[in-house]
Amino acid sequence: MRPLDGLRAEHEKILAFLDETENTRDAEEFVRVLDFVRRFVEANHHGKEERALFSRMAADPFLHGMADALHQDHELGNALIAEIENALREHADLAVISDAFATYARYLRHHIARENTMIFEAVEAVLDERTAAEMLVEFDQIEKEALALR
Ligand SMILES: [Fe+2]
Ligand SMILES: [Fe+2]
Repeated sequence: MRPLDGLRAEHEKILAFLDETENTRDAEEFVRVLDFVRRFVEANHHGKEERALFSRMAADPFLHGMADALHQDHELGNALIAEIENALREHADLAVISDAFATYARYLRHHIARENTMIFEAVEAVLDERTAAEMLVEFDQIEKEALALR
């Protein structure tokens, strides 16, 4: 098993979730979709990447540029989610909310593809066993915190 396989498995879960929810046309359903996005994608998955992975990449001369780019991607995702939340709060037309969610889904698929195909293998190529083990402990801790959020 490779150290980042847990994150890869989360990518699969997120992609399946996007496939399932992409055609949502109901405001209450969007509230549940956003809850999963905030909890599982943002706090849990991006929390692990930001706090345990990018922080280590930032210390490596070859990987730090990649970490910066991924961090910017996450900020873009946050802004797109805030747009959907605002639209929901203001009871915007469902077509507006659906369009905003479609934009977010497109962004997230692209971001995941970037991590899967370009980044994770480059990180694993330089990761030593001790650092990988530390990272897995941190992942568990972040997941516990994120999934306990209310
Ligand atoms: Fe990410
Ligand atoms: Fe990711």
